[in-house]
Parts: sequence; C-alpha cells; structure tokens
Amino acid sequence: MTGKTDKAPAGQQAPVSALKKQTILSGMQPTGSLHIGNLEGALRNWVRLQDEYWFFACIVDLHALTADWKDPKVLKNRIFEMTVDFMAAGLDPEKCAIFIQSEVREHAELHLVFSMLVTVPTLLRLPTYQEKKDELDSYGFLGYPVLQAADICVYNAHRVPVGKDQEKHIWMANDLAKRFNTTYRKVFNEPEALLCDIPLIPGADNRKMSKSYDNHLPLDFTEQQTEKRIKSFFTDPTKIRKGDPGHPEKCPVYLLHRVYTAEHETEIAPPCRTGELGCVDCKLRLSRNLNEALQPIRDRRAELLKKPDYVWDVLATGAERARERAGAVMERVRAAMKMDYRGKKA
Ligand code: TRP
Repeated sequence: MTGKTDKAPAGQQAPVSALKKQTILSGMQPTGSLHIGNLEGALRNWVRLQDEYWFFACIVDLHALTADWKDPKVLKNRIFEMTVDFMAAGLDPEKCAIFIQSEVREHAELHLVFSMLVTVPTLLRLPTYQEKKDELDSYGFLGYPVLQAADICVYNAHRVPVGKDQEKHIWMANDLAKRFNTTYRKVFNEPEALLCDIPLIPGADNRKMSKSYDNHLPLDFTEQQTEKRIKSFFTDPTKIRKGDPGHPEKCPVYLLHRVYTAEHETEIAPPCRTGELGCVDCKLRLSRNLNEALQPIRDRRAELLKKPDYVWDVLATGAERARERAGAVMERVRAAMKMDYRGKKA
C-alpha cells in the first residue's frame, strides 16, 4: 500500500476512516436485459461488494462497438434495460457509481496512452483475440484488453471482480499499470482480479448460459415464460421416463437446483437417482423456486420501468462521480508524462 489515499467518489460522504476503502471496478457489455447467469455470476457479488468498497459499475458501450451489433438504435435501449436490471438486482446508486463508459472520456484517453506500452504480438497471443479473430479483426478489437486496462486503471482500482475467462485481461491491466509506473513514475495501483465463487449456470442446451445462444433465463421473463424455458432444458439423455434412474451431477437442471433449491441434496438428487422423481416434476419444482427467488427483482424492475427519467439520472450522476475520479487520475498521468504543459506540478 502507498501512503496516498484515493478520493471518495463525489456525492458520497466519506468518513475519514473510510478513505482507506479500496476501489473496485467492474464492467459489463450492454447486452440489454440480463439473465440469471449474469445475476449469479456477477451481480450478486457486485451487490455484496458495494458495501465494502468504492464500487464503479461501468456499462462498457465502447467495448460493445467491437462486436457485431453496430446498430446505433439498439444501444441506448440496451443500456437502459441493463441499468434497470442492475438496480433491480440490488445495486444501489447511493453506494456505487453506475455509469456509461463513453460518458467518461478519460477511458479513451488512457487507452491511447496504454496502447503505446504494449506490443502487437502480445495482444495477438491473447486467447480472447485468437478465439474471435476470424469474425472480428478490427484494430479496435485487437485493442479490447487495452481499453479494459484503461477502464480499470483510470479509477486506480485495486480489485476487479470477474469470471475466470477474464483473468488474462486483468493480468494485462496489471502489466500496463506496472509498465507505466516504471516508464514514468508511480501513478497506478497494480490491479488484481477478484475471483469470486461463482456457481456454474448452464443454459437450456447445457452450454454456458448466454443471450447469444438463446438458451437463457432472462430476469424479465414472466413466471410462465420461465416455466416454459425450464421445461425445454436439456436433461440426462439416459433418463427418458419417470422410473429411469438419473444422474443429477450431469444434469443442468440439477445445477440450477443447487442454486435455487435449498434442499437439493436430500429432496432432489436421491429421488432422481432412484428414478422416483421424474424430470417433469423436477423441472416444475425448479420453476417454482426460481420464480420465487426472482420475484423481488421483478417487482423492483416493474417499479423502475415506470420511472425512466430517474434511471437516466442515475447514469448521469454516476458518470459525474466517475469523471471526478478519472479526471484526477488522468491529471497525475499527464504530470508523470510531463504533458501537463501549462500545469504547475512539473
Ligand atoms: N471484458 C469484460 C467482459 O467481457 C467486460 C469489461 C470491459 C470489463 N471492461 C472491463 C470487466 C473492466 C471488468 C473490468 O466481461
């Protein structure tokens, strides 16, 4: 730890003791309304973390431009839907800054500075680039992890809650922070991934749950839609009818019971194994429990949808708080690079 403490985001009254609070940033692409994979894989952690840290929740619209949906009409609506779901799931704009990446220009500025500190071969080697390079081969897509590093470092974040698939990107941010600090002078904390215990959330086809696979359970589904989607879930192919013994450990429906049914170990797994519990009943029970767990989120969602101006205000205030912190960090960056030509701190 350095002696320097970071300023609290504007708008939050930081008691002196809280100045030691560390900063966390995480980002999500604006894919629109969220599903239970996003909820269990990220949001629940974010909600927990907002009490202990300065939390910046960034909706990364610039990153979204790297993907295939460049239709400008959809972006705004996706951002709105996602913000509603963030708050419905419990992110509290009094405790954390929820904001849109492109509304804080400092991300783009630091991205450019960082792009000078990384070689092209390093970026070419990253598995996330290799996986998609045939579809997405823009200069911007190659620089995706550099922009992500800027997202993190522009708030001088210490920790970044992400899934395992993002570990290399956080390593990249850590490396860029170090490179900057040794090339110029120490400005950045060296951010680390905060890997949380995340339950595996499979989709209807037993692949990872994802909106793009259309195998997901969205938070904004009705109870009936949820039940219908759960009925369509892949199950153990060797268990064709009630009475056939099942293999819960291989069944995506059981993986979801592990999250939503407290008594799964006694009331689901054993009767599935013996064949006593058929898939139809098992799925109905899951639908009931999932619908019950989502009810408070759906209620808040419905309330927020009635107040779109409030939702946009939350994003505006979030961006203000974010700009305050990012602006201060970028001043230190310019000073370290001696690019504050008219500045006093030479
Ligand atoms: N790359 C992340 C993802 O696909 C999204 C992201 C962008 C992000 N910037 C970030 C995550 C900064 C954490 C921190 O999930």
